[in-house]
Amino acid sequence: MPIILENVSVFYSKNTPLEIAALKDVNLRIERGEFVGILGEKGAGKSTLIKLFNGLLRPDSGKITVNGLDPSSKQVKSKVGMVFQQAADQLFCRTVYEEIAFGPLNFGYSRKETEERVFEALEAASLDRSMLSRDPLSLSGGEMQRVALASALALRPDYLVLDEPITGLDPAGKKEILDTLKKIKGQGTTIITVTHNLKGFFPLLEKIILVKEGRIGFQGSRKEYMEAENVPLPPIASMMRELSSRGVPVNLAIFSVEEALEEILKVKSMIEKGKAEETQPEKL
Ligand SMILES: Nc1ncnc2c1ncn2[C@@H]1O[C@H](COP(=O)(O)OP(=O)(O)OP(=O)(O)O)[C@@H](O)[C@H]1O
Ligand SMILES: [Mg+2]
Repeated sequence: MPIILENVSVFYSKNTPLEIAALKDVNLRIERGEFVGILGEKGAGKSTLIKLFNGLLRPDSGKITVNGLDPSSKQVKSKVGMVFQQAADQLFCRTVYEEIAFGPLNFGYSRKETEERVFEALEAASLDRSMLSRDPLSLSGGEMQRVALASALALRPDYLVLDEPITGLDPAGKKEILDTLKKIKGQGTTIITVTHNLKGFFPLLEKIILVKEGRIGFQGSRKEYMEAENVPLPPIASMMRELSSRGVPVNLAIFSVEEALEEILKVKSMIEKGKAEETQPEKL
């Protein structure tokens, strides 16, 4: 079941001279299994939007449902995992183990079930077991981010929601988080991420939502976004267009080296198969 927002508005400091309409009449639908990027300028309303998904914020008007339920219900809270931009602000336990175990214990799972979930989440977040006894705040930025990720994953969420997960990380840290998210998505979790780093995330995104001054400026596929917003093509997409213009029948909706490699190998084997069939002697 999807996340559905119908005519949702959110105000801060409502009915005061400082009132701010952070979201205005937002209509949105996020399907299960998608990898969604939420883009937009500073102050556009991105963080406000994602805080609605697990009931951290409630709309002042309009309606939001997650899997058909109210997001502030307990069932939804365990189904929507959140990772905030400043992972350090989210970590409060003495050890990494306690940090990751906190959610499952809080939701009433047994010690044994919790332990299984801690190990599973640790592995999903590409962390080593040797890290379990460490103080979370003694870790590097990238490691903290992954502990926050593991804490969210320990509840086996249907939706994983992240706010700027790679901002401030070094290139190796960024790549680790991107690879980890790709893996988690491959296991069936819907991923929704706020990001300024379109370049890093672009190859992974299946749907893009652009928030503009509290409204949805655009929602659609990566390809539609590039056309609508006049985004310059990444070099790999230009190369695919060049191949196509030379008569190689490649798919043009390709934005990463991995996708390009897969597509080229597919087309190559198709061409070779065609040639082999042409040269087969006809059966009598
Ligand atoms: N707790 C708050 N109290 C009052 N105003 C707020 C609060 N949080 C956000 N705002 C305001 O609401 C608007 C939307 O903020 P939000 O944090 O959702 O934007 P954002 O798109 O996440 O921005 P950024 O890219 O800077 O993180 C902004 O004008 C912001 O100043
Ligand atoms: Mg924000």
